[in-house]
Amino acid sequence: MPDISKARTGSPADSRTRQASARHYLMCPPVYFDVSYSINPWMDVTKPVDPALALAQWERLRDLYRDLGHQVSEMTAVDGLPDMLFTANGATVVDGRVLLANFRYEERMPESDAHRAWFRANGFRHIYQAAWTNEGEGDCLLAGDRLLCGTGFRTDRYSHGEVQELFGRPVIGLTLVDPRFYHLDTALAILDQDQIMYYPAAFSAGSREVLRRLYPDAILATDADAEVFGLNAVSDGQHVVLPQAATHLIGELRRRGYTPIGVDVSELNKAGGAVKCCTLELRAG
Ligand code: ARG
Repeated sequence: MPDISKARTGSPADSRTRQASARHYLMCPPVYFDVSYSINPWMDVTKPVDPALALAQWERLRDLYRDLGHQVSEMTAVDGLPDMLFTANGATVVDGRVLLANFRYEERMPESDAHRAWFRANGFRHIYQAAWTNEGEGDCLLAGDRLLCGTGFRTDRYSHGEVQELFGRPVIGLTLVDPRFYHLDTALAILDQDQIMYYPAAFSAGSREVLRRLYPDAILATDADAEVFGLNAVSDGQHVVLPQAATHLIGELRRRGYTPIGVDVSELNKAGGAVKCCTLELRAG
């Protein structure tokens, strides 16, 4: 009888099956980075930020993606929009269709105009505006043929319907319950078509059960991993770029045959973001 247990538990043999695929990302340099308002528990307006350090950390991330063979497009930052570096919140793009965000907080709403203009200027012909509150890939993650969509703090659960309708893929709605993990991408990361990693305590009991049923072999993050934004990660199927402080996740990823790459995004953490937040994936049609 063939022994499939090794593949399922992540023996070194897994590494032969991990496949990177070239991606296209949209990023925005943190030229006007600041924490001048607070819309999540990480944002402390009394703590000084170092914009030069934030820019240096961001540039290293951008250069890393390029070194890994991915294409990175850049948007121009807008003065007065300090969170604009978090492009993942601007839209969800699948099959060349763009669902523009409808931000929950007034402070970020003007980012949508910049995103709309960017997509128009860059040849995207199918651009839609979310009718309900929707914070883009912060809460909508493509996992193979399904979309995992968060709700609870930002994206409205009614928006899950418009996401499913536009992209024609089943949406699995997941409820977030811990305000520190206010976007789905702070609590869960897609590793490849059928594998994820997540932090169970960030989800309601029912959503935890859904995740257990769909992903019985998922990598589970510890409290320490989650608190350093370890789930705010970007995978190309083989390389997983994540905050370097997430040491337990880094070990687990390696054990399963992925190639984890830890980066320092400590300055960006002050705004409540890390790797994935800075990275919007553009999926062509
Ligand atoms: N300060 C931003 C906000 O609260 C951080 C966004 C982080 N982005 C993300 N995809 N999790 O909206």
